[in-house]
Amino acid sequence: MIRGIVMRFSGWPLAAAFSLTLLGLTACAEDPKPVVQTAAPIPAPSLYQRLGEKAGITAVVDDFVVNIAGDQRVNRFFKKTKIPTFKMHLVNQICAGTGGPCQYTGRSMKVVHKSMGVSEANFAAVVEDLQKSLNKFKVASQDQTELLNILGTMKSDIVTAPAKAKPAAKPAPAAKPKPAAAKPAAR
Ligand code: HEM
Repeated sequence: MIRGIVMRFSGWPLAAAFSLTLLGLTACAEDPKPVVQTAAPIPAPSLYQRLGEKAGITAVVDDFVVNIAGDQRVNRFFKKTKIPTFKMHLVNQICAGTGGPCQYTGRSMKVVHKSMGVSEANFAAVVEDLQKSLNKFKVASQDQTELLNILGTMKSDIVTAPAKAKPAAKPAPAAKPKPAAAKPAAR
């Protein structure tokens, strides 16, 4: 009798554990792998975004054009230019070139600058005027470099004046013959 009770009580947990283990095993084999949800990587902001999008680019271009107007090295080129149209094209060009949602509808750089005779020095002056504005608007130096590199790819279409030939090095003056040592006067 006592043995029967022990059997009854000790048999249950064992049987239950055994069947649970089986259940567990089958459950493991059949369950799909748990889906681990990972957040999609946040894309790095484009140069367009880092420049402050269209508003930021427009502010820089407005200031840049003021710099050009006051720059004796290059302002003569822009005497007949319709400034609002020039600004609009420049903003769209920078916007499109830096990953923004704009379309450049102006002429090609080669066609626009073809007969202007822009020199290396003129180009460097315009870049300097732009850099002044980028600094004024606190554009990070690596973003400035990135933008100037993009614009730099257009240089060969813009600079058309032949590089000035360096003045030939002056020939060294011929060594003057030393005056003959004066003979000591005969006594
Ligand atoms: C990376 C440098 C430069 C860029 C990105 C650039 C870009 C442009 C753009 C987008 C236009 C407007 C195009 C159009 O009207 O269809 C333009 C026009 C013009 N650019 Fe440049 N440019 C650069 C350098 C220069 C330089 C160095 C000069 C002279 C020193 C210059 C002189 C002009 C002038 C005078 C116009 C107006 C042409 C007109 O009135 O029809 N540009 N440029």
